[in-house]
Amino acid sequence: MNTKKLVGENAVDYISDGMIVGLGTGSTAYWMVVKLGELVKKGLDIKGVATSKSTETLAHELDIPLVNLSTIEKIDVTIDGADEVNPELQLIKGGGGALLREKMVASISDRLIIVVDESKYVSNLGHFPLPVEVVPFGWELTRKQIEKLGCIANLRIVDQDSFITDNGNYILDCYFEAIHNTTDLHMQLNKIIGVVENGLFVNMANTVLIGLNDGRVKTLT
Ligand code: A5P
Repeated sequence: MNTKKLVGENAVDYISDGMIVGLGTGSTAYWMVVKLGELVKKGLDIKGVATSKSTETLAHELDIPLVNLSTIEKIDVTIDGADEVNPELQLIKGGGGALLREKMVASISDRLIIVVDESKYVSNLGHFPLPVEVVPFGWELTRKQIEKLGCIANLRIVDQDSFITDNGNYILDCYFEAIHNTTDLHMQLNKIIGVVENGLFVNMANTVLIGLNDGRVKTLT
């Protein structure tokens, strides 16, 4: 059972004619975008806002019309994945490195729907390392400040090179043993000079759809 496909495809039920739709990033949101492409081919009239260059490319391939974030005031619904979700619908995102654009898109969305498989649903956030996007200039100094908050922060390396985000920045993957006060940590991280954004999404998700191994989709609100 491909639970990512199951839940990603299920999420398009929340999309209807005339909507502006935030298109998430990652291997679960991928299935939502592909399904949406099929519906657009059949006549569904929507416009998408991509949360990453990879999603933008995918949307172009599927002929999903896109609008630029700067030209709109709000998004009707955004559907995106997550790396961890807790019972309060707080999230860790950014495993794919797209957290900044994802958060900007989510922040002007009337509704944020998160699609995950059941492995992502946890009682406490923090087992998955928290991605923090930082400016490359002086990043070691920024890392020291972040580590004072009680974590080990590793520069993300891909193919033996520093991973570069769509915005030209680095990602530090931060290993906290567990994250209890998400609001505090979110604020403390973003106060550090050199931090661009962190992957905690607090009070942003309205609905979480969980693809279960038995083929059902569970809805949390
Ligand atoms: C992208 O930066 C992330 O926030 C993804 O949404 C998240 O990592 C979930 O990705 P998967 O659906 O591929 O697990």
